[in-house]
Amino acid sequence: MRPDDGEHDEEGERLQKVLARVGMGSRRTCEDLIAAGRVTVNGERASLGRRVDAEADVIAVDGTPIGTKAGLVYYLLNKPTGVVTTADDPQGRPTVLDLVPAEPRVFPVGRLDMDTEGLLLLTNDGGLTHRLTHPSFGVEKEYVARVEGEPSRRSVRRLREGVELDDGPTAPAQAALVGPGVIRLTIHEGRNRQVRRMCEAIGHPVDRLVRTRIGPLADRKLKPGAWRELTTDEVRALERAAGPRPEPEVTPAGGGKGRGGASGKPRSKAAPKGGTAKAKGGPPKGGGSSRGRGDAHR
Ligand code: URA
Repeated sequence: MRPDDGEHDEEGERLQKVLARVGMGSRRTCEDLIAAGRVTVNGERASLGRRVDAEADVIAVDGTPIGTKAGLVYYLLNKPTGVVTTADDPQGRPTVLDLVPAEPRVFPVGRLDMDTEGLLLLTNDGGLTHRLTHPSFGVEKEYVARVEGEPSRRSVRRLREGVELDDGPTAPAQAALVGPGVIRLTIHEGRNRQVRRMCEAIGHPVDRLVRTRIGPLADRKLKPGAWRELTTDEVRALERAAGPRPEPEVTPAGGGKGRGGASGKPRSKAAPKGGTAKAKGGPPKGGGSSRGRGDAHR
């Protein structure tokens, strides 16, 4: 870890420049984020003037690590059960990062419980991660839950209208019975164990839970444990679903919000249309982009 003592003033890149490059807003906005104490470098709150090595330092905004390396990658993983959605598990359990290439380093976008299966996005695109996980965006997530017992149509309607949980009522959702004891539920929120708690609240605890869609991303052929890169079109669709890149909310000392803002337009991706979204750098270990290649990582 590098001390923030001025000794390295001429080394590395200015933190606000790195933040701006990965889509966190204009440089001015990124300066405000730093000044507001929302940016950490290697776990320590950064101060204005901080320089970083974007290849080595771990930079996070509001606790979410942002990918700062040149090549942006986007992986869709079909998470199996028994794997935890974390970058590093103190208990040494298998993590989702064990299932995808180690380099470039990626981070899961949101989380699935250890017992939940299904689609999980992993990327080093910090700007997109921030938007997709921010509570105000609410990209749709679709789940199929096999539950105990046979829920009535009335119970399923309760899921649609919102149920009371211990952290407040759920927002209206889409819910349908798609088989005996099988509910398809589409929610916009991302609260902890939300689907399990919702089903429990209607008296039908979940036996098996699978996430089948994240916004525009679905893939019925991706096997459990397998991953693939998103196509460029899929990344564009995800960008659209997440909405325009916002000015992060900041309350700088002596200034207004988001001065000198970024364009707010989605960033264009380097890869050609129809190709995969990996922008730069060699292919991840295991060869070129192809569906199910991650089978080897199981
Ligand atoms: N809801 C849950 O209950 N669990 C998940 O893993 C995701 C959504």
